[in-house]
Amino acid sequence: MNKKYPKLYDQLTSYCQSDAYPFHMPGHKRRTDAAFLAEFPNPYGIDITEIDGFDNLHHAEGILKESMKWAASVYGTEHTYYLVNGSTCGVLAAVCAAAGPGGTVLMARNSHKSAYHAAALQNLNIRYVYPEVMDEFGLQGGILPEEIEKILKSSGDRESCGNLTTGSEDGGNCGDLIISGGDCGGLTISGEDGENCGDLMTCVRAEETCGNLTISAGTDKSCEDSRISAVFITSPTYDGVVSDVRGIAEVCHRYGVPLIVDEAHGAHFPFGTEQRFGQGKHIFDTASDAETEDAAARGKIISDRTFPLSALYCGADIVIHSLHKTLPAFTQTALLHVCGERVDVEKLEYYLQVFQTSSPSYVMMAGIERCVEYMAGDGRREMERFAQRLGSLRASLRGPDGLRRLRLLERSAVGPAGVYDLDESKIIVSTRFAGESEIGGSWLAGRLREIYHLEMEMCGADYVTAIVTLMDTEEGLERLRHALLEIDRELEAGFEDGQNEKTMRSPGQEKRGEPGEILSQRKISEPGEVLAQGEISKPGELSEPRELSEPEKLSEQRGLLEQEKLSEQRELLEQEKLSEPRELLEPGKLCGPGESSTRRPRLTQTTGHFIDSARLPQPRAVCSIHEALCRPAYSRRMEDCEGRISGEYVYLYPPGIPILAPGEIVTREILDVIADYRRRGLSVQGLRDHTARELRVIGE
Ligand SMILES: Cc1ncc(COP(=O)(O)O)c(C=O)c1O
Repeated sequence: MNKKYPKLYDQLTSYCQSDAYPFHMPGHKRRTDAAFLAEFPNPYGIDITEIDGFDNLHHAEGILKESMKWAASVYGTEHTYYLVNGSTCGVLAAVCAAAGPGGTVLMARNSHKSAYHAAALQNLNIRYVYPEVMDEFGLQGGILPEEIEKILKSSGDRESCGNLTTGSEDGGNCGDLIISGGDCGGLTISGEDGENCGDLMTCVRAEETCGNLTISAGTDKSCEDSRISAVFITSPTYDGVVSDVRGIAEVCHRYGVPLIVDEAHGAHFPFGTEQRFGQGKHIFDTASDAETEDAAARGKIISDRTFPLSALYCGADIVIHSLHKTLPAFTQTALLHVCGERVDVEKLEYYLQVFQTSSPSYVMMAGIERCVEYMAGDGRREMERFAQRLGSLRASLRGPDGLRRLRLLERSAVGPAGVYDLDESKIIVSTRFAGESEIGGSWLAGRLREIYHLEMEMCGADYVTAIVTLMDTEEGLERLRHALLEIDRELEAGFEDGQNEKTMRSPGQEKRGEPGEILSQRKISEPGEVLAQGEISKPGELSEPRELSEPEKLSEQRGLLEQEKLSEQRELLEQEKLSEPRELLEPGKLCGPGESSTRRPRLTQTTGHFIDSARLPQPRAVCSIHEALCRPAYSRRMEDCEGRISGEYVYLYPPGIPILAPGEIVTREILDVIADYRRRGLSVQGLRDHTARELRVIGE
């Protein structure tokens, strides 16, 4: 009988038996051969529920309490909580505990969507601080302490931002809309007395959507609500950019505001090899007093072989770690740490209960404990070897024999654009310098996947991110090095061959490749020969097609689906005339009909505009996310939405950072950014319409 379901299990086992190599999370990299992971019992054998003697995560007073207390002692924190719903539940709980309903938070705009969801649940007013931009690479930089200070200074200050609370005509109702004077685009609001100025009628841009709101001037209550209750930043970013957390914490604390740091991507930082020279309290502080003093005098860790100092030791009040992203731990496992006294622990624990499952997995909790135990011992020593492997990889990709067209984000980026430090375990490979071509992140990720069987963590408009952890093997890193250098040389040869050729194919390919043909079928000449190790066929060496293996079929199916998706998007874009007719040059993930990622890239000169994905639009909000989500919303063609109020999120996933949130006014710039993402085949999500053709807006 033809087995139709289940498919997930079959697909996973088949994929995991293939030679596909993960440069993505989880950080254990599926290393069932590694001693530490091999020791872990079969998950079924230890999967229990809250039976006698095993405590209850939501009411911990036994073994779980002891285990979490021990973990706190490892990190040197007041409290460390085990999370089985990822950093997501940690962010939700931290933000909800820090700011009560209707309150205000200061949030970095490049925050993960979970922070936005927390703000929506608590009907928070959000003041945004925007990351700096690393112009050369087109990446988001860090958050500057002085920017945080500027906003904190104005918080609760009626003169400068007013944060007037609006209500509908009946006054008593809908007091949730917050209009921030500084942002409300020319609205002049005045009232005879502070108590009541109910006669003022405002409309914010679109009368039919926001019309006739009665504004009451800032009462003490609204002023109170406008006071910032917490600052939330992400450091490191998905790309490994670390902000000056110590500087930001100092500012926050001067204003009496707790700092929450989403260090989801930096769970390995506390185990960085040279952190004992940091200024913070650290459990691994084995340095002599003299060494520590010397390091403190220098002010900062100086080493090109280490990892940034964790926010735990830079004054943050809450720090959230996704163990699963960069350490050997199961997917979904994470930690929330409390440092110091500024956090209402009771409230926090209440919200952790709200956002975590009532059946926390003992397999995951044991996995968390094992991971921390390992990292505090053998894992920490492994980090030193890992730092060396990483250093060698990076060294071989730079220099005269290194990359020429592709470029690696390196420590030289530290300094400007708020980049206080850089996590070098994120290998960011930029296609920006590949020449004036439209070779982008999707193209590179597709090529790495299809030819070399290397799966990246993510691709941006013009870069890919590989997550490298202490569990990566020498062989895995070698495969990455080889693949990048080979693609780089190919790009270089493409330019040397002649930039003006419309379409360039690999030598020998002209005779063999037919439009739409998946050339990877031809890449493996002998069963078992691993192309991903870099055995790219040389001219004339292509073998005859052979039966594909299961993983290859999967990859091919995915490629075909993506081709379909791309042609649909392309068709839609043409219909909508959202972009100038330009060639789509994203083979691989994005190759269109008649193209294949195994074909040499087209190196067409770019004439069109380039939308910088790092420079986040700064849309104006006319109401809170919560308020917007409570209102009726209607689907409209994207191009008809300019000037309207969004009823939903729009973000690229990954990384899940909204470029538009509910309650914000849609601008031409945002529409252009969305069109550009679609044109590049990036995954635009958050909308009910998965093709991103329509947006739900508030008001008919
Ligand atoms: C910056 C950041 N914070 C939080 C999260 C959520 O983490 P988790 O997947 O552990 O829930 C993510 C997920 O990618 C993230 O990128």
